[in-house]
Amino acid sequence: MSETPNFKVTIDNITIEVPAGTSILEAARRVGGEVAPPTMCYYSKLQGSGGKCRTCLVEVSKGSEKDPRPMPKLVASCRTGVMDGMEVKSMTSEKVLDARKGVTEFLLLNHPLDCPVCDQAGECHLQDLGYDHGNEGTRYEFDRRTFEPEDIGPNIQLHMNRCIMCFRCVFAAEQLTDYREHGILDRGDHARISTCISKSLDHDFIGNVIDVCPVGALTDKTFRFKNRVWFTKPVDAHCKCDKCCGEVRLWMRGNEVFRVTARKDEWGEVATASNGKTGWICNECRFEKKSLSDWTIEGPSKISRHSVISQGHYEGVHEPQPELLAEVIGKEPVFTMSIHNISEVNKPNVHLSQIEGPAHSDDFK
Ligand code: SF4
Ligand code: FES
Repeated sequence: MSETPNFKVTIDNITIEVPAGTSILEAARRVGGEVAPPTMCYYSKLQGSGGKCRTCLVEVSKGSEKDPRPMPKLVASCRTGVMDGMEVKSMTSEKVLDARKGVTEFLLLNHPLDCPVCDQAGECHLQDLGYDHGNEGTRYEFDRRTFEPEDIGPNIQLHMNRCIMCFRCVFAAEQLTDYREHGILDRGDHARISTCISKSLDHDFIGNVIDVCPVGALTDKTFRFKNRVWFTKPVDAHCKCDKCCGEVRLWMRGNEVFRVTARKDEWGEVATASNGKTGWICNECRFEKKSLSDWTIEGPSKISRHSVISQGHYEGVHEPQPELLAEVIGKEPVFTMSIHNISEVNKPNVHLSQIEGPAHSDDFK
């Protein structure tokens, strides 16, 4: 049996080897960090996803060793395979950064700016994209599309106003359940996610559509408006479940479990479980097991320091580095200080990550 050959590909001046057949996006994810393009529709755990949103555009400045001509247009990295000797620009291309700005503007044309009341705020991929590549204002002069919120099933609410038509939930329903009851209805500007003749979604694994939705269009009715994610503390836990892997993330405040979700990886996708399969969770674990006695706690979840959610769980202490800052801004900073050097209000000897639940004034008496 012949082995798959490896191709050399250079992305933002970093060269790696990947098996033939790898997409540019997956190769960039292997490099990691900022080099990996943002994705709003691609989801590595869902077959057929990608190719809808164009947030992952990259510039191919050299096609391959055999044919070094650059590709004439930016390409969707999630749908383009690497070639041997290919050279790709992601963060290092002005054209790409400009295109991402344009795509972000398009995605926001109809998306309401209701982050202050949206349950997805703080973990919304469109919010992150907006901060990284968005403009401060919109040039759109027409009314946004509006829809009434729709109950699709006993535990899921659809806010179609927020949907960016990424198709992920449709793929998730198709691939995780025996039958699919919802999909894209209508065409063009009228296209929307809905259930046919108001059928509800009640399959055991349908709750996973909430986890794959990159925005706040599909929300968990057992958690809606109960808390902001950055006030909750994410904790990894497991239980013995005969339907799913039972490995979840609990979002807690004190001893109260506010929300149960699947665990996510660094790309915001449902992570691989210890059995080697994707860690999709069943509705019972997600919507019904809201008591601590249902779970065996493993410990605090690892959350990226850049995420607003990390504000709520105190892992590590950021010490200002005035010398470094002086080097970057070219003068002595006068506005940074370590609070511990000038005040006894916060006790540096109290290790915040060891306090059960959120810290409050009693911990510092
Ligand atoms: S509801 Fe969410 S997952 Fe489904 S198409 Fe819309 S944005 Fe994508
Ligand atoms: S992530 Fe590639 S087109 Fe959407």
